[in-house]
This record gives sequence, C-alpha cells and structure tokens, in this order.
Amino acid sequence: MLIETCKRSRIKNINWDVEIPFGKYYTDHMLFCEYRNDLWKEPQIKPFGNFLFFPNTLVFHYGQAIFEGMKAFKDIKNNIFLFRPLEHLKRFNLSAKRLEMPVIPTKMFLEGLINLLKLDKNWIFPKYGYSLYIRPFMIATDGPITAKPSLNYLFFIFCTYVNNYYSRPLKVKIERKYSRSANGGIGFIKAAGNYAASFFPTKKAQLEGFDQILWTDSAKNSILEESGTMNVFFYIKNSLITAPADEKILNGITRRSIIEFSKKNNINVIEKYFTRDELKYYLKKKEVVEIFGTGTAVVINHFETINLNNKNYLLPILKKEERISYFLKKNLLDIQYNLNKDPYNWRFEI
Ligand SMILES: Cc1ncc(COP(=O)(O)O)c(C=O)c1O
Repeated sequence: MLIETCKRSRIKNINWDVEIPFGKYYTDHMLFCEYRNDLWKEPQIKPFGNFLFFPNTLVFHYGQAIFEGMKAFKDIKNNIFLFRPLEHLKRFNLSAKRLEMPVIPTKMFLEGLINLLKLDKNWIFPKYGYSLYIRPFMIATDGPITAKPSLNYLFFIFCTYVNNYYSRPLKVKIERKYSRSANGGIGFIKAAGNYAASFFPTKKAQLEGFDQILWTDSAKNSILEESGTMNVFFYIKNSLITAPADEKILNGITRRSIIEFSKKNNINVIEKYFTRDELKYYLKKKEVVEIFGTGTAVVINHFETINLNNKNYLLPILKKEERISYFLKKNLLDIQYNLNKDPYNWRFEI
C-alpha cells in the first residue's frame, strides 16, 4: 500500500469540549483505490484533499455512486474498535452489485481501513459519546457520457470526527405523498440517489416544522417504513414493532443489533408490515409508549411527536430511565465502547 502522510496534522484546531456539527471536520488522511481493466489497483493513503474530475465523468450524470457509514470507538485504554465492519462491507458489496459496480475484496477493505485508522488514531477521542464516523464510498469514473455502467471506478474511505448527533427528540411527519423506495427498486441499498430523492420532501416537512419524514410504501402510502437515515421501531404492548427488511428497507446494522440484543433480553420483537391505520388505532388508545429511530450516526433517537393524517400526536413524556430506547441505547453503547462484554462478537479490535 502506498502511504503519503500529511506534513502537519490539523488536529490541533479541534476543541473536543465543543459540540461539533456532524461531518464538519475530516481527519488528516484518506484512502483511495482505482478500479481499471477489471482489477483493483494498489490502494493509496494520502492527506485528505480534493480530486480533479472531468465534467463528463459518469457519476455526475447517471449517479452510479454508493456509500457506507460506520464508526470506530476508543475505550479508556485507547484501544480502538470498529463496530461490525464486515457487516458494513457486506452491505456495501450488496449496493455495488445492485448498481452494477465491482465489489470490494475483504482484505483490501480491512487492510486499508486499519492502516487509515492507525494513521488517524488521535482523531478518535477516548470518551463516551465521541467516535469517528467512517465513510467508504465508490463512484463511476468513466468519461464517455453514454448511459451505461462505467468500466472504471474509484473507491475512497475518509473519516469525520463526531460527538453526539441528533441528540434532541424528533418531531416526525408520516409522509402521504412521496416515497423513498419501490418494489424492485433500490431502497435496500445505500445508493447516493436514494438520498438526493429524499431531500425535497424532507425539506417540505422541515418548513412545516418537522425534523424528519417517516416514509410510507409507494403503492398506498400506508405501510410505515423508515425515517431519514434511521430504521424505526414502535414500542406498543410490551413489543417492539419494526418493518421487515425487505427490498424497500435499508437493513440497518443498528436495527439488526437492536433486534438481536432485544431477543436475547426477552424483549418481544415483531418484524411486520405496520400501517398508518394500525398506528392510529394504538395512538388513539394511548398504547404507543415510544417510537424511536436507529442508525449508525444517531445510535437511537426517540420521537417526541408523530404527525399522522395532519394531526400531531404527542408521545408519552418519560424519564430517561423509563425509556426502552434509553435501555437499548445504553447497552449498545456499552458494547461499542468496550464497557461491557460482547457476546455477539460485534466489536472488531484493530
Ligand atoms: C435510509 C437509511 N435507513 C437506515 C439506516 C440505518 O442503518 P445503520 O444502522 O446500518 O446505520 C441508514 C443509515 O445508514 C439509512 O441511510
């Protein structure tokens, strides 16, 4: 692997005590690798910086672009852990196949990522709540602007330092017009275009005073799907209800971890199609105890208000310790920060 280190680290500019907007600061280095003539070339690490592309580069026109989002944590002894990196790679390669892009070999991914993290290890602050968000992504780099899969690609990994993201409770509107995915579509992968398509409806909801949209199915706008960059759970009658991971849902690594952890801890989990009407029935009977979203960036974030058919329903105001979302978040974070045993083998020490 070719490694060129930066002359001077930018880490001195960071004030670790101030809350930093997500994605504002990037670490000193990034990894990239070219795919040409059906082969991945030697990966390279360079100082974080810009790249030059011609305007006809395919990614700008047909959106052949995918990404992942994962995290690294430090425990108080400065040991570094990734959370389920091979699951993220598996999903990345699922995205690659669906968009007719080359897959990333495990060795290339892990070696590259470990080298990058070792170089930029000081950017992972050894404190609960702090982590490093890792962004692998791949783009089509061919020139001729015909609408066909590219022959050449670039794979990158860069990292951004984060402390708590989205920490306040959310006001969420159940969407009745727009959808993020469709049968046979690409809702189950992290394709860049899925996010671009979500911006307009989300902006509309934000102008109406909501933080996020809860998406519904494209056929009838009835089945509750996911929200922003989170899978969604409803806690009703001592059960957690969440949408099944079909082709319209991004099967979150956090989602799967919460389901596995809950099942092991005798919390009933139901993966099923759950509709707006069913939710309305339980909201009216005041049987919805909590609604929360799960995702790598937020871990878990609970909803404060849900807007259904233009009516705002205020969810029960509970103390932190009374929330199942808090219990689940704390247990997951304790595993991520090496504060508790990891019977699931989710931690990956580097
Ligand atoms: C659309 C969408 N749903 C759900 C998630 C949560 O997935 P994960 O828990 O793997 O971060 C994400 C984030 O990656 C997302 O972008």
